[in-house]
Amino acid sequence: MKILVLNGPNLNMLGIREPEHYGKETYSDLENKIKAHCNGKCEVEIKQTNHEGVLVEYIQNAYFEGVDGIVINPAAYTHTSVAILDAVKSVMIPTIEIHISDVSSREDFRQTSYIRQACIKTISGKGTDGYLLAIDDIINHIREEKI
Ligand code: DQA
Repeated sequence: MKILVLNGPNLNMLGIREPEHYGKETYSDLENKIKAHCNGKCEVEIKQTNHEGVLVEYIQNAYFEGVDGIVINPAAYTHTSVAILDAVKSVMIPTIEIHISDVSSREDFRQTSYIRQACIKTISGKGTDGYLLAIDDIINHIREEKI
């Protein structure tokens, strides 16, 4: 089973950016944590970009590469991007939206998520552990779909 983990803008700054919201782990800590969690469970590819169109291309490529499930933290593009919503709708790959911080208790502009309507679930406010929960949920969802 192939899982793709996508991260949007500024998530490469984890450990430096606003630790009160995003914690002290670095982006490379996050990558290592995800890889260790997936070891023996599923194949995982982890990507980060600061560019909206590149995220769209990563989602489109997932279709042609036979990815089974996507876990995505679109970061600020969550709140602005119809293009990323349309990309997820295009590929019809089960997708979970994840946020490190609890976006529901933050600014008004963070209360809109375009991508949410194309996702099977949203996980928010569980820190970087949210990625691991999302991976387990997507694996279970894919297994159930295949029965
Ligand atoms: C975020 C929340 C977004 O509102 C913000 O723009 C981010 C990170 C999170 O993981 O909590 O960059 O997606």
